[in-house]
Amino acid sequence: PGTPGRSGLPFTPIGPTAVTVDNVTVPVGYRWDAILRWGDPILAGAPTFDPNNQTPAAQAGQFGYNNDYLDIIETNRAGTSALLVCNHEYTNEGIMFPPGSDPETVVRTVWAAHGMSVVELRRRKRGDAWTYVPGARLNRRITLDTVFAVDGPAAGSDLLKTAADPTGRSVRGTMNNCAGGTTPWGTVLSGEENFNQYFLATGTDPREARYGLSATQDARGWRFVDPRWNATTPDYANEPHRFGWIVEVDPTDPGSTPVKHTAMGRFKHEGANVIVNRDGHVVAYMGDDERFDYVYRFVSRDTLRPGNSAKARRHNLQLLSEGDLSVARFTGDGLGDGVSDGTGEWLPLTRGGQSMVPGFTIEEVLVFTRLAADAVQPTKMDRPEDVEPSLRSGRIYVACTNNADRGKVGKEGPTEPNPRNLNKDGHVVEMIPSGGDHTAATFEWNLFLICGDAASAGTYFGGWTGPVSPISCPDNVAFDSEGNLWVSTDGQPSAIKVSDGLFKVPVEGPERGHVQQFLAVPSGAETCGPVIHDRDSSVFVAVQHPGEDGTWAAPQSRFPDFVPAAGTPAAGQFAGPRPTVVQVTRSR
Ligand code: FEO
Ligand code: CA
Ligand code: CA
Ligand code: CA
Repeated sequence: PGTPGRSGLPFTPIGPTAVTVDNVTVPVGYRWDAILRWGDPILAGAPTFDPNNQTPAAQAGQFGYNNDYLDIIETNRAGTSALLVCNHEYTNEGIMFPPGSDPETVVRTVWAAHGMSVVELRRRKRGDAWTYVPGARLNRRITLDTVFAVDGPAAGSDLLKTAADPTGRSVRGTMNNCAGGTTPWGTVLSGEENFNQYFLATGTDPREARYGLSATQDARGWRFVDPRWNATTPDYANEPHRFGWIVEVDPTDPGSTPVKHTAMGRFKHEGANVIVNRDGHVVAYMGDDERFDYVYRFVSRDTLRPGNSAKARRHNLQLLSEGDLSVARFTGDGLGDGVSDGTGEWLPLTRGGQSMVPGFTIEEVLVFTRLAADAVQPTKMDRPEDVEPSLRSGRIYVACTNNADRGKVGKEGPTEPNPRNLNKDGHVVEMIPSGGDHTAATFEWNLFLICGDAASAGTYFGGWTGPVSPISCPDNVAFDSEGNLWVSTDGQPSAIKVSDGLFKVPVEGPERGHVQQFLAVPSGAETCGPVIHDRDSSVFVAVQHPGEDGTWAAPQSRFPDFVPAAGTPAAGQFAGPRPTVVQVTRSR
């Protein structure tokens, strides 16, 4: 049965897709097209993609690797121009470069393949597919060489100073940008996630260890090209402290300096999504994607100034610079009622620019947020990824992707908010702020989805008892104009042995919990993005890391160009996989 009614995206769910299907699968009546692929030239003068001779300079003008967060922001009333904003989370050198490539060239090229892209899109009329505009005025690449300003209470702290930046206020680059969110004032937030893996650290400091920094993790050897990646030296001991932030980018101003907001804390930020509270304070919800880590909330000190005047815009660009950070504790009311639910509280970490954690200065709370949070005993969650409020209902959805360590020897066992041992399938928490107030100290919560397939124990689908599409490892979430939740997954191939995908699920009404699969991604890929423009009958996803376990010589995906390995690729093509932003539109 398809989804009835007024939706611009009626569809009959697709079935689970075999991991060997190396293509995007969409419902009957829909088609997919690539908008941008790794290596497509963006900036004026950037060369056509030539995978056999890739250079740092070429990559710095081309679409980066492993697209993750995505938004498509329309910029005119006719709906014929838009900005595409995208994160480039990490690189996979083994399938990006021919064997024998010069190591320093590889390192410098992947620095340019990280970061973000801003690209202008055009189309003739609503409902058409978008194409990108090479060399357009607003096109921008942000890489590991782009200068960022640091703001908020920890800016200028000794904890952020290095030999190259004695001010502690200016950082070169962003990396491991995973998910994000678009603000009401038109900027994009992006989370710096697994930054630890690129540094050589001493391995002896417990503060390093809490962030996964170690003496063995820098497999990419970046420190041989730039000493800042060697945190064992006094000059760069603080360089890791300069990553792990929420960054804010203004996609409408290619000359603007992007900002790292210390007030929002430092951890493995999946992303940040904001909602304007009824009193005008801007509230950001954030997940720390690690097994047994936490859900956070930031409440701005100042309130949103409405309108688009230059004065309002200047004001709003400062909203995330000062505010109160807290961390969530979820308390269950017992499983006697047959459901995982209960109440919760926001435990303050900072308030009014002061530390609320005994033994921590404000700078220490913000730079070593994980350790400050540990001190107030929040709830250890099963890897919180996207945490996103519905702008329609004000309820917040937390995608806890999985936690293979839950209940293992020496690890915390199941609790009502994280109810399964060795949680391979993940769950989605629904949070309801007390009195509908996003600044309130308390909330109610329930597990909206406990994911899995027919073979998974303990599944729950929002009370829906009819058939559902199997779903596992929720990662990114989005809403359509009717308030339905759309969930994309990362990890189904190992958890339930089918390709990752995109799923629609109503959160209200008689179909609450009715999970329906809309799309599946090619072999080896996770589904990122997603962006749902249902009134425009369009869905966008970022296909990340297709064929990630292959090699240059033996690709495990040929998506999206499908060039035979034995043939001669045409200009701009590649016989291996290319991370790609895909749009899905109606074909009839
Ligand atoms: Fe980069 Fe938490 O996924
Ligand atoms: Ca209960
Ligand atoms: Ca993610
Ligand atoms: Ca993930």
